[in-house]
Amino acid sequence: MDKKVLDISPIRFSDDELWLLDQTKLPGEEVYIKTETKEDMWDAIYHLKVRGAPAIGVAAAYGLYIDCKSYAGNDIEGFLSHVKTSAEYLNSARPTAVNLSWALNRIASGLEDRKFASVAEAKEWIKAEAVKIHEEDVAACIKMGEYGLSLLKPGMGILTHCNAGTIATAKYGTCLAPIYLGHERGYDFKVYADETRPLLQGARLTAWELNKAGVDVTLICDNMASTVMKNGWIDAVVVGCDRMAANGDGANKIGTSGVAILAKEYGIPFYMYVPTSTIDMNTPTGDNIHIELRKGEEIYEMWYEKPMAPAGVKTYNPSFDVTANEYITAVITEKGIVRPPYDVNLKKLMEATEVNI
Ligand code: MRU
Repeated sequence: MDKKVLDISPIRFSDDELWLLDQTKLPGEEVYIKTETKEDMWDAIYHLKVRGAPAIGVAAAYGLYIDCKSYAGNDIEGFLSHVKTSAEYLNSARPTAVNLSWALNRIASGLEDRKFASVAEAKEWIKAEAVKIHEEDVAACIKMGEYGLSLLKPGMGILTHCNAGTIATAKYGTCLAPIYLGHERGYDFKVYADETRPLLQGARLTAWELNKAGVDVTLICDNMASTVMKNGWIDAVVVGCDRMAANGDGANKIGTSGVAILAKEYGIPFYMYVPTSTIDMNTPTGDNIHIELRKGEEIYEMWYEKPMAPAGVKTYNPSFDVTANEYITAVITEKGIVRPPYDVNLKKLMEATEVNI
């Protein structure tokens, strides 16, 4: 991006120290927490201090390095087995966003494919690989911003759900990247942010980051999406993704699939932003995606002064849902824009360097 509209990265790594923006404190406080052990990282991922599929992947890669650098032995076999165990542990923090296992596997399998003369050398390689994953994500977001902007026109009204912005990635965001880019170029978008119950990523995070960047953003409750569409205020819907299956079904924050169905009804294009690190060709369809279930307290207690449901009430709190591929107008990746049929075109995308299909 020519000019940085929002110069915030949720993950800071310098002088061998790792700091994460604690997103549970937003929008009230901008606090960075030092992450010194794999347990710190597991806790940060599980409690959504760091969140958003790409940011989770980048953070976990650094988390693995932070853990492995304190390994005391000199035997390479012991070190490799330590890395594997730590990667499995970190991977257990959240199940749906594939970027977590993608980043950890990339490091664990990359280590096994190489021959290191010493543990010290292997540690340096892990650090370099984590930095590479971080830098690649920034570059991918910039590319998705350009591709995504080519689908939008000045003055458009845009609806988004959850937060797939700067703080959900290494920087710039996936589906918010074109909005920042358009903002720099005077596109004058009107963005509508769903609050995104129950953890309020839309209200606490999307509204916060767009507002901070000077983008025109209007916060709405999730159940108002149909009304703003009916009012004719929405020209496009943009959302992120946590895992896209090989057939183009995409898991994203709970509520996304409902927005997609509404968009189709109102004839509004629905764009899903999916870096290739979020495409899981080993998962055939959305039915095979493991959807995280979280505690019921998040629904009735977390943001209230007192519980907003009778004590002991049963709850069901899936954190994600799957948008069927038929509702997705186009998938925007860092390699280009993909259109249906996704089962054919995602395969082509994964094999190509740059495409528009
Ligand atoms: O539970 P979260 O806040 O981690 O969920 C985040 C989302 O659903 C995002 O839309 C997705 O991870 C894409 S982030 C670029």
